[in-house]
Order: sequence, then structure tokens, then C-alpha cells
Amino acid sequence: MMLTDKRILLIIAGGIAAFKSLDLIRRLRERGATVTPVLTRAGAEFVTPLSVSALAGEKVFQDLFDLTDEAEMGHIELSRSADLIVVAPGTADLLAKMAQGHANDLASTLLLATDTPVLVAPAMNVRMWEHPATQRNLETLRKDGVLFVGPNEGDMACGEYGPGRMSEPMEIVAAISSALAEGPLSGRRILVTSGPTHEPIDPVRYIANRSSGAQGTAIARALNALGAEVVFVTGPADAARPEGAHVVEVQTAAEMLGAVQAVLPVDAAVFSAAVADWRVASASGSKIKKTKDGLPTLEFAENPDILATVSQMAQGRPELVVGFAAETDDVIENATSKRLRKGCDWILANDVSPETGIMGGAENAVTLIFEDGSETWPRMGKDEVAQQLAARIAETLG
Ligand code: CTP
Repeated sequence: MMLTDKRILLIIAGGIAAFKSLDLIRRLRERGATVTPVLTRAGAEFVTPLSVSALAGEKVFQDLFDLTDEAEMGHIELSRSADLIVVAPGTADLLAKMAQGHANDLASTLLLATDTPVLVAPAMNVRMWEHPATQRNLETLRKDGVLFVGPNEGDMACGEYGPGRMSEPMEIVAAISSALAEGPLSGRRILVTSGPTHEPIDPVRYIANRSSGAQGTAIARALNALGAEVVFVTGPADAARPEGAHVVEVQTAAEMLGAVQAVLPVDAAVFSAAVADWRVASASGSKIKKTKDGLPTLEFAENPDILATVSQMAQGRPELVVGFAAETDDVIENATSKRLRKGCDWILANDVSPETGIMGGAENAVTLIFEDGSETWPRMGKDEVAQQLAARIAETLG
């Protein structure tokens, strides 16, 4: 992951995560990037201008009305000459300013006075992150084309637990690389669902399936390599999470639908998750005990069909929707009728009969089914299937 000669304007706002931005500067420079740092007034409460400039090997820009800086280089020029503006940490306050178009300090002015792409690594307390005001601002910024990496879920400096922790420096480096990647999918936002879902029976038991998530991870990586911004919504899968993608972890089909709806709009969506068709109708809140009265009976309820829901959206439907069909018999006929039933554009059908060894294996044999025909690909590695699919998506989105 080299970033040779890339110019990054790094805005460090006021959050405890600012200390991680020092490491971020170091890692960006190791990869050949030039980092021009901007420290907000609140940011300077957390890291010193001296440490920032020492690591960046550049002067730190701090105040809008510094006439010396204005004479050296107009603040507008400062942001326009960058290849990418990175805001890390992106505080709730700065996100609000960005969403509203404020320009009352150097950082917000730079962000308003430019059309350079912007990537934000949000960092804030979990309640602030979940607050409807912040979520509204995020939605506005996403629609404006602002890119995001994280936040992660975990223990926070304030002692709470949840989403709001800034992504690690290497995750931000990966997101920067993909934002700067010049591929046929740069500027495109693509959703990939992956893995199984877990449907609870009681607090300790659940119903699941054997999906490893390997094909979904490979697809996310391949799309990312072509320059797409990938949002990866995954159930509890064994496969590694794709680096460079924005990862959203869920457990159940209902949660997956909620997460998918929250990341829309996207240009394309690939539904490779093996979503459970049913959930236990009334999962028990406490552990079901053995009783003398006999065996428990589980009643099922149907899960929402995420692929069909998104395919049939009246407004805001992705330009391209791709589903999967795991079949054991009459693969092409079944997958062709599934495409029509669900309303997606393409279906990748695979034969998952046990003798193929595909489910959980490293290879896949697929037939791509589209409106006016089908195409059978030779049996190949899941990575190659992913690359071929990503290339097709790039060709179609143009
Ligand atoms: N899918 C989904 N939500 C569901 C079920 C499936 O998004 N609740 C998606 C899968 O990600 C996959 C496609 O739909 O892309 C096909 O799933 P499958 O389970 O094979 O479809 P079904 O309609 O359940 O087919 P069948 O009745 O043959 O099992």
C-alpha cells in the first residue's frame, strides 16, 4: 500500500483520539505521502503543534486569521492542492459544522472552500454518535459524497462501550488508499452483505448455517481494489473482514436489513450473505430448561427478504443489484425464476450439492444469470470469481 507523492491535508480536531493521528502521520509518511497538518483549537488541547509538525516534517496550520500564513499560501489553496482531505478525529462538533456548511475557523473554512474528496474518521462518545442529530449529519454528509472510515465498537476513554472509537491508524491508511485508488470504480459506493446470520432460540442457543463468508470477503476486496468505497455488512462469519472496507457487524436477519437500509444510498449492492429464512417466533429471554413435561417446540416466523426488499425499492434503488442463489438441483432454472421473483438484476447461481465441496471450500463454480441470458464460468478460486464479478460490475456501472 504505497501512497507515493500523494498530498494529504490532515485535520486534527479536538478528541482524545487525536493521539492516534500522530501515529497516522508517521504511517502515511512511511508510505511516501506528504502530510500537511491542520490543528483545530480544540485539537491543540490534546496534541501539541510541536509533536504534529515534527512528525509531519511540515508546518502546522492553526488559525484562519494568521496574516503570515495568508501571505504564504491562501487557506483556499491549502485545501485545493491536496489529493485528499482527511479529518481524524472527526468530532461530533466538526461533523455538525460540515453538514451545515459553517466556516468559522480554519478547519471548517478549508472543508467548505474545496471540492477535494474528504474522508472522515469519526471519534466520539457512543451517545453522541447515536444521537439523532449526529446520525442526521452523517446522512447529509454521505449524500454530499463525504467518505467515512469507522467508527469502531469497543471500550471508550469515557468508560462506556459501543460505537464511537476512532478507527486504528492502519484502518485509516487502508481507507485513504482506497479513496485515492484510481480504478474504474473510484467514486462508487458499493454494499456487500456476507456471512451467515444467527437467529436466537434463547440467550445461549441459536440457529445458523455453514456459510464461511469467504466469497463475500473476496468480493469486497476485489471491489475495493478497483477503487470502490465498500460497505461490508456481515453476520458472524469465520472469514477475515476485508481491510479497507467499512465493516458493519450484525447477528440476525432483521439486524442485517436495518444495517443495509442505514447504508443506502449505494451505486450497487451485492447480496452474498446466507441469510436465515426463518427466525424463532418468540425467542426466549431466559435459557430454556429441560423439564419433565417433554421437549420444547420451536415456532418459526419468516425473516424479511433483504435482497427482495432492496431490489423492489420504489425510490433510491441501487443502479445494480446482485443476488446469489445456492441451489442443489436444476440450478439454472431455479436461479432464473429466483431472479424474477426477487427483482434483482443479476443472480450468481452456484451448485452447493455436497459432492461439489463448494460450501466452505476455496473454489466456486457459478453461472451468472441476467435479464437476457446466462453465462457459466469455469470452476475457479473464490478470489477469481470475485475479481471477475467486480470487473463486470465496473463495466456495467461505466
Ligand atoms: N437473501 C436475503 N434475505 C433473505 C434471504 C435471502 O437477502 N432473508 C438473499 C441472499 O443473500 C441471496 C439470495 O437472497 O443473495 C438468495 O437466497 P436464497 O436463500 O437462496 O433464496 P430463497 O428465496 O430463500 O430461495 P429458496 O427458497 O430456494 O431457498
